Amino acid sequence: MEPYQPLSRSIAGLTAIITGAASGMGRATAHLFASEGANVMVTDLHQDACDAVAAEIEKAGVPGKAIPLALDVSDGAAITAAVAATVEAFGGLDIIVNNAGFAKLAMIDDDAYDAAWEPTLAVMLTAHQKMVRAALPHLRQSQCPRIVNVASTEGLGATAANSAYVAAKHGVIGLTRAMAVDLGRDGITVNAICPGPIRTGITDAIPEEHKEIYAKRRVPLRRYGLPEEVANITLSVVLPAASFLTGTAIPVDGGLTIKNA
Ligand code: NAI
Repeated sequence: MEPYQPLSRSIAGLTAIITGAASGMGRATAHLFASEGANVMVTDLHQDACDAVAAEIEKAGVPGKAIPLALDVSDGAAITAAVAATVEAFGGLDIIVNNAGFAKLAMIDDDAYDAAWEPTLAVMLTAHQKMVRAALPHLRQSQCPRIVNVASTEGLGATAANSAYVAAKHGVIGLTRAMAVDLGRDGITVNAICPGPIRTGITDAIPEEHKEIYAKRRVPLRRYGLPEEVANITLSVVLPAASFLTGTAIPVDGGLTIKNA
């Protein structure tokens, strides 16, 4: 029998770029990665919000380093510049977490439908491929190249009046699978995380009693999840030891998607 081979469970010294990292799951992921010793580019729409998260991380006294950078992911040129800035600052790029997003509800027959569709697809689908294409030369030089796309349980099913978001998130899962096939030859893994209902900026306005009713009816674990609970699954997926996991869409949803009634 071959000798047992321990695989590394450390991302210390690796470099990650996280989009939408000023809030919710992106912020939790930035904290967690830095606490594990990774270098983190904390990107989001506004510089002051990125500064605040980087300052929190620095104050926490973790081994990793965080650099704040304003990045609107609907701007392809800005994505290219952010990748260049990351490589310039840290000397490489190993991990991409495409996480930025928002919720804009619109029925298919609303006048405002296109006003929801265009930015939703731009931020929550097109941006993912632009980030990957900009980062590819650097990922190809990495010893642990990892791409994580944050989809949703809305990428596995559909809620009413949400078709632009549902289309984007189904697209993210399709893009994840297709990129996993195309980039496998480079050893680059590509996986999607599908959060269920999580306590973040997106769900903040939902009244507590509605959250409770929904969770008790739909979620086997009978509660909303925490951003940290998603961030820890994202961490598992980017570990060097996760080297044979690719093309997956992993629900982190308290059991939402497996519950029939
Ligand atoms: P959040 O609102 O706390 O964080 C999202 C971040 O994305 C915000 O800081 C926001 O400024 C940023 N963002 C929005 N547009 C951007 C743009 N054009 N460029 C750069 N950054 C931008 O929300 P949350 O929940 O942490 O969202 C993260 C991801 O998780 C999103 O892709 C969302 O669709 C997904 N998700 C959230 C669920 C939930 O229940 N909270 C469930 C399933 C998926």
